[in-house]
Amino acid sequence: MPKPRLAAGTLIACFTALTAYAQGSSSPTPAVQGNAITKVQNLPNGVELTSGPTLLRIIALRNDIIRVRAGHNGTLGEDASWAVLPEKRAASILVTPLKTEGDAGFSTRSIRVAVSLQSGELTVRRADDTIVLHESLPLAFTSGGFQLTETMPVDEHYFGLGDKTGPLDRRGHAFTMWNTDAYRFQESTDPLYKTIPFFLMFRKGQAAGVLLDSTWRSSFDFGVRAPAAYTFGAEGDNVDYYILAGPTPRAVVESYAWLTGAAPLPPRWMLGFQQSRYTYTPASRLMEVAERLRTDRIPTDALYLDIDFQDRNRPFTVDTTTFPDLKSTLAKLSAMHFHTVAITDLHIASAPGQSYAPYDSGIAGDRFLRQPNGSLYVGSVWPGPAVFPDFTQAATRAWWGPLYAPFAAMGFEGFWNDMNEPSIFDSPTGTMPLDTLHRIEEPGFRTRTATHAEIHNVYGMENSRATYEGLLKLQPDQRPFVLTRASYAGGQRYAATWTGDNSSTWNHLRMTAPMLKSLGLGGFSFSGADVGGFAGTATADLLTKWIEVAAFHPIDRDHSEKGTGDQEPWVGGTAQEDIRRRFIEERYRLMPYLYTLAEETSRTGMPMLRPLFLDDPQATTDGHPIDIDAGVESEFLLGHDLLIAPPPYPEAPDAYTVEFPSPHWFNYWTGEVVPQPPPPVRTPNAPAAAMDRIPLYANVKPELATLPVFVRAGSILPIAPLTQSTDETPAGPLTLRVYAGDECHGSLYTDDGKSFGYRREEFLRLTFRCEVRPDGMTLDVSPREGSYAPWWTQVRVEVYGWKPAAGLLTINGKQSSASIQQAVNALVFTIPERKEGSRITLR
Ligand code: GLC
Repeated sequence: MPKPRLAAGTLIACFTALTAYAQGSSSPTPAVQGNAITKVQNLPNGVELTSGPTLLRIIALRNDIIRVRAGHNGTLGEDASWAVLPEKRAASILVTPLKTEGDAGFSTRSIRVAVSLQSGELTVRRADDTIVLHESLPLAFTSGGFQLTETMPVDEHYFGLGDKTGPLDRRGHAFTMWNTDAYRFQESTDPLYKTIPFFLMFRKGQAAGVLLDSTWRSSFDFGVRAPAAYTFGAEGDNVDYYILAGPTPRAVVESYAWLTGAAPLPPRWMLGFQQSRYTYTPASRLMEVAERLRTDRIPTDALYLDIDFQDRNRPFTVDTTTFPDLKSTLAKLSAMHFHTVAITDLHIASAPGQSYAPYDSGIAGDRFLRQPNGSLYVGSVWPGPAVFPDFTQAATRAWWGPLYAPFAAMGFEGFWNDMNEPSIFDSPTGTMPLDTLHRIEEPGFRTRTATHAEIHNVYGMENSRATYEGLLKLQPDQRPFVLTRASYAGGQRYAATWTGDNSSTWNHLRMTAPMLKSLGLGGFSFSGADVGGFAGTATADLLTKWIEVAAFHPIDRDHSEKGTGDQEPWVGGTAQEDIRRRFIEERYRLMPYLYTLAEETSRTGMPMLRPLFLDDPQATTDGHPIDIDAGVESEFLLGHDLLIAPPPYPEAPDAYTVEFPSPHWFNYWTGEVVPQPPPPVRTPNAPAAAMDRIPLYANVKPELATLPVFVRAGSILPIAPLTQSTDETPAGPLTLRVYAGDECHGSLYTDDGKSFGYRREEFLRLTFRCEVRPDGMTLDVSPREGSYAPWWTQVRVEVYGWKPAAGLLTINGKQSSASIQQAVNALVFTIPERKEGSRITLR
């Protein structure tokens, strides 16, 4: 992006003025340079300001969310968005105009928004006076773009931007957003497949967020070009961004979901183990893999068909020589409880006169992109020369959806939209020319022609939207499963995702944690990385360790490239297979917990896989995010309750230290309490707070066959008997593992796993609470919410970390004859399932 037109002196003056704030003190010195405000108009919900040719409008959507728009010719750009929901853009609250001398702006209950009349710089503070964001330069329009420059305090850290490699903390790094087919990407590769221009700022235990709603090529620089400033901006001249004031990271993530929508509840089978490769062909090979998964008792839910199942790589066709009767193959797989997913790329083979229906109907309806001279744009991809649907037209998406009809009818249950950056093989840029023409014909948008430069980053998302909405129309009571490679902010409304073409190396396994954490912060809770790595052949040990770690990832899909060695769970011998099976089995036992988390995502936007600071922003005494500590980047939370702690360098035999974000944890595998380390030596100068919070840590010696997993004290985990797929009804009781501790609670959500019945009350939600009192422990199971009947008739309770004095069990006030067994590290008893809920007392 071109540099803003500002004198270097301006930069220096501003940085000097703001040094105090940047170095960690809480209030900035007023800035002295910039673009004076010439006109102020207070609005009921915000303020409108004029500074020369620049018009700036700042409005409050909620007490804690503002939207900033600006244009540089006295008008604002079009009020439309692919990312932010229309009803959220229309939201507003009444604000109180600011009466501070020298500033214009307003306050809400949570924040104060001030623009310096002298310099035009914006500062947003919370009610407690902490700074959310402070411009160190006024908004600058550049030739063909704009840039915002914010003060970067020395102790602020930055997270998010979705699909990015490198350290989780973006501080000291710069990024571009430009959806790119990044085959064999490396740790320093940028940009990648998706554009999620949303990041969190985290400082002294408080968080805020910024969503830059621009589909144009955009850039984010956290202190590379200037050490005391972070900048973001885009091409195009429509400045439109949102500031989310937090102050907790959870509030920021939930606000982002409020703006852009949460991912819908997926079919439960998405959470099962998935086996893929490029490509299982012919049909007999697919069946062989399916049968082996069942005979080897590797629990599995999904199988994938990659491009070679198609006729000459043409989307929406079948190679009938290799798959002569795909319908009956799919029926056999379905009877074995597999859900089969088909790839359907967006490039439609340019095949005039060949009775290729997607091409013919697309041409007839004028559905494909054109060049400025009016001719069709043709680019070469898997099928050779191909044409590209114009997905920013509602009518094109309506044409695309029905292309799935024969495939849904055939028995495919999920669809995979790949190459939708879009990837073009015969182009020097890897994608289509920037002047390729798109047409926006879309409710909420002005009908107009737009260039590929504007649409590129949103193209993949609109592809997956067309698929999602098309499938919903075809099967209105079935939750679609769509997997997309490219997307934009808000794309979580339509599809799950994966991290693209990684490699079968230890370093790529290591990179999965920060990448999936970052995707989760950006709305893509349902994400995974190719297990075992895509490019290259995994060694047996690498595949084993990867399967162990991915058993705790939201999407657990083993996938590999054509021409590489086999990568199924049995490859490498039975000793390796036994370890891998054990971990996949554990995933299935945890399915009630996983599905409860998936439902939480769909309601609140909270990701299943989380950085530690998301649930524990106060984990450190000085308020820095714990994830930036050495070694912690490889750790991740699965929901609030489970901490997975792979080795920081997964191939290294060295012992390592697991750092915990709160003081009391249990070993998930053994139920033992993680022992408290010795208290720190009290020195006269130690701050009291530091003494209160003794960090918990554990030393681990890595082994191939084990993976450290911990449970937070105060959790109640729902666990199911093992099944071989999520279609199977578990046989036996639901287990509640109660880990004694403060605020002890848990929940369980379930339903039929596939339909929208849950919207008609056909779900079951239970909440659990336990409390340790001087006279015993109580466990409350709430009455059932929703009408869905549980599969269990009995609940087996395992209590960890607490022992009764007398061994007496009371259920709903009556002394029970159920026996309490002492298992290793746990007490175990079984109670009947009751619609009205239960109160259990242990003494
Ligand atoms: C792309 C995808 C990969 C897929 C291949 C063939 O490289 O990222 O997952 O297997 O295309 O379709």
